[in-house]
Order: sequence, then C-alpha cells, then structure tokens
Amino acid sequence: MRIPLIAGNWKMNKTVAEARSFVEAVQGKLPAADVVETAIAAPALFLQTMLEANTEDVLRIGAEACYYEDDGAYTGETSPRALHEMGIPYTIVGHSERRRYFNETDDVINRKVQAVFRNGMTPIVCCDETMGRRESGEKIHWVVNQVTAALKGVSPEDAAKIVVAYEPSWAIGSGTSASTDQAEEGCYLIRQTLADIYSDDLANGVRILYGGSVKPDNIAGLMAKNNVDGVLAGGSSLDENSFIQLANYQ
Ligand code: G3P
Repeated sequence: MRIPLIAGNWKMNKTVAEARSFVEAVQGKLPAADVVETAIAAPALFLQTMLEANTEDVLRIGAEACYYEDDGAYTGETSPRALHEMGIPYTIVGHSERRRYFNETDDVINRKVQAVFRNGMTPIVCCDETMGRRESGEKIHWVVNQVTAALKGVSPEDAAKIVVAYEPSWAIGSGTSASTDQAEEGCYLIRQTLADIYSDDLANGVRILYGGSVKPDNIAGLMAKNNVDGVLAGGSSLDENSFIQLANYQ
C-alpha cells in the first residue's frame, strides 16, 4: 500500500522566524504519518529551527536541494552528509527551477540522487514537461528520459524508496493545474518507466506525486486518480491553513 505524501516546496520564500511560526501552527493539525504523510521542503538555513519547532514530529522536514559531494571546496553548497546528520529524511532533486536557472543537467541530477541515497535520505526526484513538448507529442520521451537518467546506476533497493514528482512546467505557479487526467497520464508514464527499468513490483510500491498549482480546492480530484500518490505544492504550501487543508484532503 502506498501511503499518500502531501509535500510542500517553499522555494526561496519565508524567513527563519516565519518558518518557525508555520511549523508551530501546524502542530496537532496534520494527519497521522501512517495515514497521510506530510512534508515541507525548505531552504537549508531554516531546517534546524523547523526541526526544533516540530515538537509533535508528524511533519517531515525536508531540504530543497543539496550538492552531489559529501564535503569539500564547494563554496555555498549544501552537504548531503550534513543534512542527514541533522535528521533530514527527504531532499528534492531535479526541480525544473534548478534545471532552468542553475543549469542542472541529467548527469548532475543523477549524481545528486546517488548522493542523497548514499547519505541515508530519500530523494524526491522531479520531472518536468513543457507545453511545447506536450503539444508536439514529444513528452513521452522527455519524461521517460528524465526518470531513466536520474536513476542511472541506482540499485533496486534504493530505487524502491524513491519518490518521483511529475511537475509540468506550464502548470507551475500558473494558477492552473494540469487536469486530473493529464496528472494521471504523467504519473502513470513514470510508473511504467520504473517498471521497465526495474520491475512491476518495485514500480507499484513507489510513490509518484503531481505538482503544479495544487490547491485545497483541486487536490481531492487529483488524489482520486490511481497513479497520483500525493502532491508537491509550491504556493499553496506557504500558508499554514492552506497546507493543513491540503494535508486533510480526504
Ligand atoms: O515543486 C512545487 C512546484 O514547482 C509547484 O509550484 O506554486 O505551482 O504549486 P506551485
């Protein structure tokens, strides 16, 4: 059984004080983690404060990104080894904004996936898709290629723990989500790709999320789809009441 995962990605928003007050505000208002798992991925400089404020320990506190080396002369980067030592369970890898603005290639993303696993965390690997690619019918190759490249050299034991997010670029921050059928189509395609690389059994156990303008008023329809096991919400995860509503979508 795949436990739904309702995750937020704060991107470069909030301050440390605002992050603390969010975490304090959601205590006692989120579902039990064995029913619906909840997570917020936040900038690295907020994480320690968020962990301290997370007294109930139901919400998972994740990172938005990290580097692919554990330590070294990489000014400004975040060490996956240090994240793990803090007790961070999840790190987003390969978000379309990292691909676009920070030139992260499939090879870099693959190295980061391996670094996250090597350091005992779980990557939430994002795959994007542009409207141009969708309309040209090229999308199948695009999404399949991103998943295949991200998982190169990853053992079945690790791959079984991965979380993958289907995030069409045209739905991110646009206010208009993909339709429930489009979300299902993308998530199904990712599951088929995992089945082709590994096995049906493995693919059926992996959680696949949809991301792109998810809001409290459209989450239920998305979550009703067979292959949508959760969401990765940006804007609507910033407000505590909105995140609480997302988490309690059932
Ligand atoms: O990773 C989440 C994301 O890119 C979607 O953002 O603001 O459209 O929910 P948003």
